[in-house]
Amino acid sequence: MQFKIIAAHDLDKQQRQQIAELCFAAFDEDPWSQYTFMQTAVHIIGILDNTIVSHALWTDRIFTLKDDVIVKTAYIEYVTTDYKMRGKGLASQLLRYLTNLLSTLGYELAALQPEDEAFYEKLDWISWLGYLYIKQDVSTYLTDDYQIMLFPLTTKLKERLTYNLEEDTICADWREGELW
Ligand SMILES: CC(C)(COP(=O)(O)OP(=O)(O)OC[C@H]1O[C@@H](n2cnc3c(N)ncnc32)[C@H](O)[C@@H]1OP(=O)(O)O)[C@@H](O)C(=O)NCCC(=O)NCCS
Repeated sequence: MQFKIIAAHDLDKQQRQQIAELCFAAFDEDPWSQYTFMQTAVHIIGILDNTIVSHALWTDRIFTLKDDVIVKTAYIEYVTTDYKMRGKGLASQLLRYLTNLLSTLGYELAALQPEDEAFYEKLDWISWLGYLYIKQDVSTYLTDDYQIMLFPLTTKLKERLTYNLEEDTICADWREGELW
């Protein structure tokens, strides 16, 4: 499988259409029609025989940990493989490629909200057990019902987050749509 990294605004018409079809099949929506911030996402596509068979995207977020440590984070969404091509290791390859790439781009952490944790656990992602806060304007509030998973991209963060204590916190800025 060949990988390409393309900013949302540089996708050509055919790529947009193929990504939309994959995302509609998996999530009943394409990434762009609901939220403006998706226009600044970066897509990773896996290509076989000139066809996009696997996909993910990320947007930039800043996570602030409990002691005001600021973490440059790639927030990953719309992970999907064409249903005819599932179970062949394509999404695993794509996510491994993506996390390697993100560390070379200076990201310290990758994060996502999993549909199914087992798939990501196999790829060494860890479940966040601490609190999740959202900062909106001047207020900061706890968001209770969310489960996120993390893939630390630096040794320091890996040590801290792998053994995360349940009282540790992550705070991110508010965004439209799904907060996490
Ligand atoms: C989840 C998804 C992306 C996996 O794509 P894929 O290319 O089939 O993944 P892989 O072939 O790399 O699967 C890797 C492993 O995870 C397992 N796996 C795949 N989907 C899984 C799931 N939903 N739950 C648990 N395990 C899963 C596979 O059986 C495989 O296990 P193995 O290595 O022991 O054989 C694909 O099933 C999909 O598009 N699902 C619908 C959209 C979705 O749920 N996306 C995730 C959003 S967070």
